[in-house]
Amino acid sequence: MEWWRCLFVGMVMLMAAGSGEAQLSPTFYQWTCPNVESMVREAVQKKLSQTFATVPATLRLFFHDCFIEGCDASIMIASPRHDAEKDAPDNLSLAGDGFDTVIKAKEAVEEQCPGVVSCADILAIAARDVVVLSGGPSFTVELGRRDGRISEAGRVSGKLPGPDFNLELLAWIFGKNNLTLFDMIALSGAHTLGFSHCSRFAKRLYSFTPSSPVDPSLDPKYARQLMLACPENVDPNIAVGMDPFTPNTFDNIYFKNLVNGRGLFTSDEVLFTQLLSRPAVYNFAVNQESFFTAFASAMVRLGRVGVKIGDEGEIRRDCTAFN
Ligand code: HEM
Ligand SMILES: *[C@@H]1O[C@H](CO)[C@@H](O)[C@H](O)[C@H]1NC(C)=O
Ligand SMILES: *[C@@H]1O[C@H](CO)[C@@H](O)[C@H](O)[C@H]1NC(C)=O
Repeated sequence: MEWWRCLFVGMVMLMAAGSGEAQLSPTFYQWTCPNVESMVREAVQKKLSQTFATVPATLRLFFHDCFIEGCDASIMIASPRHDAEKDAPDNLSLAGDGFDTVIKAKEAVEEQCPGVVSCADILAIAARDVVVLSGGPSFTVELGRRDGRISEAGRVSGKLPGPDFNLELLAWIFGKNNLTLFDMIALSGAHTLGFSHCSRFAKRLYSFTPSSPVDPSLDPKYARQLMLACPENVDPNIAVGMDPFTPNTFDNIYFKNLVNGRGLFTSDEVLFTQLLSRPAVYNFAVNQESFFTAFASAMVRLGRVGVKIGDEGEIRRDCTAFN
């Protein structure tokens, strides 16, 4: 790190210490596990070389983990009775590759630094790495999270946004997590990656309102393409690319799509149809750099949600089980 960045980070940390708030820090494992980030990146790269699904699955896993009990890897817990967080109906088909990425990275880290690095931090690093590896912005990940001791399916309901949410509901649920409207718009740009099952947006194609079965805010050509990919009563396993043009690249095409009526979910399209959020969407659509900057800073803020630090929680040995 250049001296001036060191100085700056130092000042920010001093200011935070002054305000009495316990804090995460990018250098948390400096003495206890200095190579943690390269170990995680290597594991992520290896998993990515097996399947691209690693990228969207890991990014989404991080988001869901943070919105339920905070970023504490509670989503990783496997329960023999199928009543943990990941078993909730709202787990929205989290792809297994995200879980696998964290498990593999943790195994690599445990070999060199046993009992030191939390699963929550490994997930946060892996989420940054998949963004970078698919062409998105890099950023410094704050560390020092502890793993949670609670993971219950019954505590998931109402904590995650739904694809039919309007702007007010989106702003409210992100606001509960200390994220601004601007953060929410930038983070929604994650839908530049990955896939959605037809059931998540079928209502916009077939039963929007009695008088207008197709959502009029959808570009008609895009609506026809979606109907071809997702006929009524389609196999529930069928999924379509959320960014139909570049589903494997982290870029700003998601926002260009919104401007053109090609937002897959209502929760995507409202970002453009509502006047309050439209300027940010326009800006991100024409200026990829400003999207990248906003996304990186929103990811750092997402990574602070409900974190456990100090002697709270634990450092799990196995990410899928409490110690
Ligand atoms: C703004 C509110 C959001 C809503 C309503 C929402 C909803 C959804 C839904 C319904 C899916 C499809 C799931 C499926 O059918 O398999 C999805 C996929 C996805 N979401 Fe979101 N999401 C939101 C925000 C986010 C955020 C903040 C991130 C990450 C920063 C994110 C990352 C992803 C990714 C990467 C996928 C693709 C998953 C895959 O291909 O495995 N989403 N989202
Ligand atoms: C998600 O929940 C459903 C039941 O609601 C379950 O069948 C499925 O296995 C869960 N998915 C994961 C990845 O845990
Ligand atoms: C939001 O920020 C406040 C003030 O820093 C903090 O007390 C609260 O725990 C945060 N909420 C979440 C969900 O992180």
